[in-house]
Amino acid sequence: MADTKTVRVKVPATSANCGPGFDCLGFACTMYNEFSLALTEKEGLNFTITGDGAQNIPQDEYNIVWRSARYLLDRTRYGAIYKGGVITMHNNVPLSRGLGSSATAIIAGLEAANALIGNEFSRRDILQFANRIEGHPDNVAPAIFGGFTSSVVYRGRVQTFAFLPKLRLKFVAAIPDFTLPTRVAREVLPDKVTREDAIFNISRASMLIAALMSGNPFYFRNSLYDAIHEPYRMSLVPGMQDVFYAAKKNGALGATLSGAGPTLMAYTLERDHIAESVADAMVDAFEKNGVKAAAHVLSLDTRGAYVYS
Ligand code: HSE
Repeated sequence: MADTKTVRVKVPATSANCGPGFDCLGFACTMYNEFSLALTEKEGLNFTITGDGAQNIPQDEYNIVWRSARYLLDRTRYGAIYKGGVITMHNNVPLSRGLGSSATAIIAGLEAANALIGNEFSRRDILQFANRIEGHPDNVAPAIFGGFTSSVVYRGRVQTFAFLPKLRLKFVAAIPDFTLPTRVAREVLPDKVTREDAIFNISRASMLIAALMSGNPFYFRNSLYDAIHEPYRMSLVPGMQDVFYAAKKNGALGATLSGAGPTLMAYTLERDHIAESVADAMVDAFEKNGVKAAAHVLSLDTRGAYVYS
């Protein structure tokens, strides 16, 4: 068996939690990382990494694209055949900002390796592998399927409902110029929540799905609140409340902490054409709190990870 051809993979950024759906809801948006992978029988790894945070990404066996590719190969007979690889990564999704950059790398490694060995695994299998590697499904699921996703983990297995909402939205991602590792943002969370807070979140997460599926902006607006992670993380993102307020004052339906932060994500109706002014207002509000930020107006990615040669 010879070395493989090269496959390319494009994977969307994702925003997890969507307010009340901690560790289970997420959506994919139109910002992409691009990867390529070829497998070699000879040991040794060759990396070309460009784009955001390129200098901070390991170029050895700890590289997450390679580790994910290996994870899949080692479950097949090809694990013993392919020992090395040639990997390129181009990052448009900023690292450690709550936009699922690590999920893009995990999905890229899994999808590319799977394509190179003749697609032995389905996307549902890829989802299981990715959840085991990442530890929660809320970024990896939308990165695979696109659209919005709602996931349940039971005894280590994920079930994901992926759907395209009736509500036509534009998203505004206000991305601060500092990083916040997910591990740090999880350390500030309490181990237990009160029944009152649990009900607060369950009711809103259910309403959020209903609003998206039925296309009702009024219910959607009222669902974008959280009691179990955002309040605790507020101290890690200076100006969070002010930025939320600025987004809403300028017509956004609401705003949430994207994943573990520090990016703040505002939701606007496509038909309102206000995303640009919401973006400016969010950047200004961050600036008033001493935080430099860049805002991107994004749409829903409806396709998910995409493999091509
Ligand atoms: N849902 C996870 C969290 C992170 O909020 O900690 C997703 O990136």
